[in-house]
Amino acid sequence: MSPNDVEKHIEIELRKREREPRLKDKDLFEVVEEVFDRRTVLAVIELKRRGCIKQLKGVISAGKEARVYWAKGPENNDLAVKIYLTVTAEFRKSIWKYIKGDPRYEWIGNLPRHKLIMAWTRKEFSNLKRMYNAGVRVPKPICFYQNVLVMEFIGENGVRAPLLKEAVEQGELEKSDAEKLFWDIIENIKTMYWRAGLVHADLSEYNIMLWNGKPYIIDVSQAVRVDHPHAQSFLYRDIYNIVRFFSEDLGLDIPSADEIYEDITSSEVNEVE
Ligand SMILES: Nc1ncnc2c1ncn2[C@@H]1O[C@H](COP(=O)(O)OP(=O)(O)OP(=O)(O)O)[C@@H](O)[C@H]1O
Ligand SMILES: [Mg+2]
Repeated sequence: MSPNDVEKHIEIELRKREREPRLKDKDLFEVVEEVFDRRTVLAVIELKRRGCIKQLKGVISAGKEARVYWAKGPENNDLAVKIYLTVTAEFRKSIWKYIKGDPRYEWIGNLPRHKLIMAWTRKEFSNLKRMYNAGVRVPKPICFYQNVLVMEFIGENGVRAPLLKEAVEQGELEKSDAEKLFWDIIENIKTMYWRAGLVHADLSEYNIMLWNGKPYIIDVSQAVRVDHPHAQSFLYRDIYNIVRFFSEDLGLDIPSADEIYEDITSSEVNEVE
């Protein structure tokens, strides 16, 4: 079933429900269960009731754990809706290194599947909000409920902006713009570190979108606080990935990861609350 079919079914079932308020949930969900579980359909309906989402449109990305949809908001504005659907054993294992040692989140590691998905969605929303408020260029967080997170859509008319990796592959990035872009990303890492007090921890050319010539940092669920036991090595790895991409793939003559790391960690900026 395509996402548009899912949307159609949600609409039909909602209308049915209005006419027959006692319609059983079982009937309501039969049709959409193939893609979304029952709780997810309920969560989408709740966000519609709250006036946060008007309509789910096409699917943008179907990853291993999450799907990202293009949606319309109350003012017909474009939205991106990230829905966490499953927890693979690999996911459970991989998140452990981000939550262990973080007093805010360590406890979520042993939660049952559904509770873990909800806690992870909340974590992504809270990281996104902290970054956005600190002035890091990330999609604006809008709302979330259970396993569904709604944010600003990066792109237009349902066509998402390219990832940094794709923009370079498609030859959309001029070498002269690349250096400006590199320093813009470094500036965002610095703001994230000093003003949001966070380290992305999975930064690379695959988690940066390029829109109107500006880099947008995405996929922030795993970001850790700067006092996390591994924050410094995550920060170094983020910087290393970016430096490697711009120097090896784009042939830019830029400082080494060590020099950038030194620069970022020594130039203090006040944290925002
Ligand atoms: N705000 C947004 N606006 C437009 N497209 C987005 C937005 N956020 C994410 N996307 C698209 O959805 C894809 C997956 O998003 P994200 O990286 O957050 O999820 P993920 O589950 O980590 O997926 P992956 O495993 O592919 O990295 C992104 O690569 C991007 O193409
Ligand atoms: Mg990603």
